[in-house]
Amino acid sequence: MGLQSALTIDDLKRRAKRRVPKMFFDYADSGALTEQTYNENETDFSKIRLRQRVAVNMQDRTLATTMVGQDVSMPMALAPTGLTGMQIANGEMLAAKAAEKAGIPFALSTMSICSIEDVASVTTKPFWFQLYVMRDQNFVRNLLDRARAAGCSALVLTMDLQLLAQRHKDLRNGLSAPPKFTPRHIYQMMTRPLWCMQMLGTRRHSFRNIVGHAEGVGDLRALSSWTAEQFDPKLSWDDIAWIRDYWGGTLIIKGVLDKEDAIAAAATGADALIVSNHGGRQLDGAPSAIRVLPEIVEAVGDKIEVHMDGGIRNGQDILKARALGARGTFIGRPFLYGLGAGGEAGVTHAIEILRKELDTTMALCGERDIANVGRHNLYSVDF
Ligand code: FNR
Repeated sequence: MGLQSALTIDDLKRRAKRRVPKMFFDYADSGALTEQTYNENETDFSKIRLRQRVAVNMQDRTLATTMVGQDVSMPMALAPTGLTGMQIANGEMLAAKAAEKAGIPFALSTMSICSIEDVASVTTKPFWFQLYVMRDQNFVRNLLDRARAAGCSALVLTMDLQLLAQRHKDLRNGLSAPPKFTPRHIYQMMTRPLWCMQMLGTRRHSFRNIVGHAEGVGDLRALSSWTAEQFDPKLSWDDIAWIRDYWGGTLIIKGVLDKEDAIAAAATGADALIVSNHGGRQLDGAPSAIRVLPEIVEAVGDKIEVHMDGGIRNGQDILKARALGARGTFIGRPFLYGLGAGGEAGVTHAIEILRKELDTTMALCGERDIANVGRHNLYSVDF
């Protein structure tokens, strides 16, 4: 199937699976332990019924709104994802370009393959930077300096990965970046010749935000032990203060799933929080993000902008999240599948699939402006 004939995010996923080496496709398509939370992020959306309206003027619709005060063409951003440059060569640069052209934010992960400077070199508008708080405070300061110098317009501070949960697929695949060269990995790569050719054409094969920047991480061998030790297991709400002050710009706290944590997040003075369980990749058995969204909006919605991510696979899901109080949404796998399926054009295609589905759904719900979508557009919520 060609890229343009892909009608759904699932079509893009199937195409990506044929083009991306197994270990990297599986890295995107995996959750922690039993993958219950990963699956429920998606299936809980189907427990929400929409309210159909007729004989309402549906002409001249708009999806444009703002996220943390910045104009967006629709309430959706590309979520920060690690190792994105392993789905396809230069993946983060390609995704950032697609997001810029679509008028939506792109958030670059600390654990990206392409660096902050790489992404800045191919974009003209500000992108967002996602920070993992590391034990090495000098390195964190260095990252923030670089993000500021690159003109990043928001910092996304991820709170839900103080340690890495067990993901069986990654362990079985022996995932690593740069890829290992065992016979099994070589076979997985050789069966994806286009991917190999494109990878040979780039020098971006490892964590370029880190290598050469963190003390003692000059080469690739030092990198893997460094990352294993560096995620800070002692991270607390008190640490947010110095990061917020040092950054001095828009701050978004990512990975909140609990009402009490949301209240603490709001008290930090951050501009927004993202209700998220890391796409089901951390605490398996936790509720889906859409399920807890209403209680978090109720608890802190008047104090801090509330966004959500996890399980969005079509435009209807974005409308449902909006209706339950999310100002904006983020997508992870949908854009990764687009990237694997067809690089920048694939990400553009994924965004446009979601945009079209959202627009049609909004119209059939009898709304012309995304700003007016609310609880009244839902018929029932069965969770
Ligand atoms: C992620 N996510 C993530 N989050 C983050 O803050 N920093 C990161 O480096 C990563 N890395 C990462 C890699 C991959 C492969 C995935 C799928 C996800 C979580 C991500 O930002 C987001 O919360 C989820 O992807 C949202 O769920 P969906 O849209 O993938 O269902």
